[in-house]
Amino acid sequence: MSVAEEFSRLYGYEPEGVWEAPGRVNLIGEHTDYNDGFVMPFALPHTAVAAFGRRTDTAVRAHSADLPGEAVVVSDPAPGASAGWADYVAGVVWALRDAGHAVGGVDVHLSSTVPTGAGLSSSAALEVVVALALNDLFSLGLERQQLARLCQRAENVYVGAPTGIMDQTASACCTAGHALFLDTRDLSRRQVPFDLASLGLRLLVVDTQVEHAHSEGEYGKRRAGCEAGAAELGVTALRDVPVAELPAALDRLSSDEVRALVRHVVTENDRVERVIALLDAGDVRAIGPLLVEGHASLRDDFRVSCRELDLVVETAVAAGALGARMTGGGFGGSAIVLVEDTLADQVTKAVTEAFAAAALTEPRVFTAVASAGARRI
Ligand code: GLA
Repeated sequence: MSVAEEFSRLYGYEPEGVWEAPGRVNLIGEHTDYNDGFVMPFALPHTAVAAFGRRTDTAVRAHSADLPGEAVVVSDPAPGASAGWADYVAGVVWALRDAGHAVGGVDVHLSSTVPTGAGLSSSAALEVVVALALNDLFSLGLERQQLARLCQRAENVYVGAPTGIMDQTASACCTAGHALFLDTRDLSRRQVPFDLASLGLRLLVVDTQVEHAHSEGEYGKRRAGCEAGAAELGVTALRDVPVAELPAALDRLSSDEVRALVRHVVTENDRVERVIALLDAGDVRAIGPLLVEGHASLRDDFRVSCRELDLVVETAVAAGALGARMTGGGFGGSAIVLVEDTLADQVTKAVTEAFAAAALTEPRVFTAVASAGARRI
């Protein structure tokens, strides 16, 4: 049954429309978005799909095909009143209203193919599909980047996860066949052609099946550490430290812990710029070593990797991949692997076997094709 048909069955009337928003992987630029830095995500073909109908009151009724059961009803969305997964829906309604937009109540039925807890932005997909639908249904006239910002606010304030702007922007603004180069300071963006298939290349996503969780506190600690580093250096954000000035900046910091965080962020911003230059020059294969370098930095300096992610990267590279790195917030979730088409099966097999040999849960591997951002369907 389609999402629209299921909506009609659940709520007893036809939905007014159906919207869709994707999850993402990040090619490079990790833990840079809350440091005013650069990121380069692209949208996955996996999406959250939602049917909507307007209500005559202000309540939000939400139902998910992935969690069958009673609809969750939030009569007056406000931060602090947790309704579990429906927070991502009610949170966006709240964020729009709080910003002064006239948004009434809605009935929602949703279904998502974005794996949850896999670092692939299933929550951003949910937020963005809701924001886009509300923008259309209530004729708000907001730009996609504004919607992404309001979704981030829902995540930060309503859900309580101190994340940056990357995931929501990726879901709202990506286009098929492109990676999105986003400057998170001024939110300027550029669509960079990223058609691997035509080059005989493939990007594998390896979901380690290790659940990650940002709200657990580690993400917030890294963020606070970066802010402390920026304060010590007297800059607005770590984005303001050029890579050429890194050694001098490190000398001025008082703790090894902050030094390592700063080193990651500054070198990672530089890696994004180097990846962009290579993509612009059509030298896609040459980004491989930068992915591996980025992973080492996240593992050793930022300390957000884990045994399973490291195993994917080590095994994939040893089996012939051009490069690999963890993607997203870390502490579990997924890694990406850039590989020649002809070697994809061999690399997948090597990773799967390495997990079996280490008595780890079998990872889920799929090919990621740069797909479209959020849309009405
Ligand atoms: C999560 C957050 C993003 C970003 C990444 C790390 O996905 O939601 O804002 O900080 O982690 O790059």
